[in-house]
Amino acid sequence: MLNTTNSLGLNEAFGNEVSPMPLFETWFAEAKETEINDPNAFALATVDVSGQPSVRMLLLKGIKEKGFIFYTNMNSRKANDLQSNQKASICFHWKSLQRQIRIYGSVAQVSEVEADAYFATRDYDSQIGAWASLQSSHMKQRSNFDERILSFKAKYPEGSTVPRPPHWSGWVLLPNELEFWLSAPARLHERLIYKFGDNGNWVKSLLYP
Ligand SMILES: Cc1cc2nc3c(=O)[nH]c(=O)nc-3n(C[C@H](O)[C@H](O)[C@H](O)COP(=O)(O)O)c2cc1C
Repeated sequence: MLNTTNSLGLNEAFGNEVSPMPLFETWFAEAKETEINDPNAFALATVDVSGQPSVRMLLLKGIKEKGFIFYTNMNSRKANDLQSNQKASICFHWKSLQRQIRIYGSVAQVSEVEADAYFATRDYDSQIGAWASLQSSHMKQRSNFDERILSFKAKYPEGSTVPRPPHWSGWVLLPNELEFWLSAPARLHERLIYKFGDNGNWVKSLLYP
């Protein structure tokens, strides 16, 4: 039986805890037990130079120094957006728990060492896929991709060390705002927001649903 957090009341939600991260970690741990797949899936919203927003699903691959880490192709649409505008927002929705967490902040690239270490943990086919995919570029036909996969498999045979492609790395989203949303009957939902203030402290308050 899960010991879930059933109320987000200002005082109830982790008492006087000043950081939102323990509550994030608690909800994430509960989601890992309840979601049928990908509890680490989240939507990432970016904005391009023209102001056009774009959103897509990604997988959270780590939480470090109070930031949220994800990996992708650095020539992709999202990476192009993030290179010109570091502001981003991510959103987790855990259906089985009827919970949502919205996070706002700015991104920075992870270090080469960190990206290498994570890439090395990926399975062989995913490593080859990272080399073969020209993510978000137009593809004439699927067989072109299949040929690229075969050629990289020939270059890096299974069992050998596959290096991380130079165009593949990670970002960390450093949050300045986190909002927890908890479903309640009759749509009288609960919302608790944490904002990082100029004084270097998190400030929390409730929002109307
Ligand atoms: C559940 C789910 C998880 C995904 N995880 C990732 C991921 O971790 N990294 C990634 O580059 N793409 C991931 N994708 C694919 C992206 O949603 C997207 O199609 C791709 O990254 C290209 O996005 P872009 O053209 O906006 O850059 C995932 C898709 C789904 C549905």
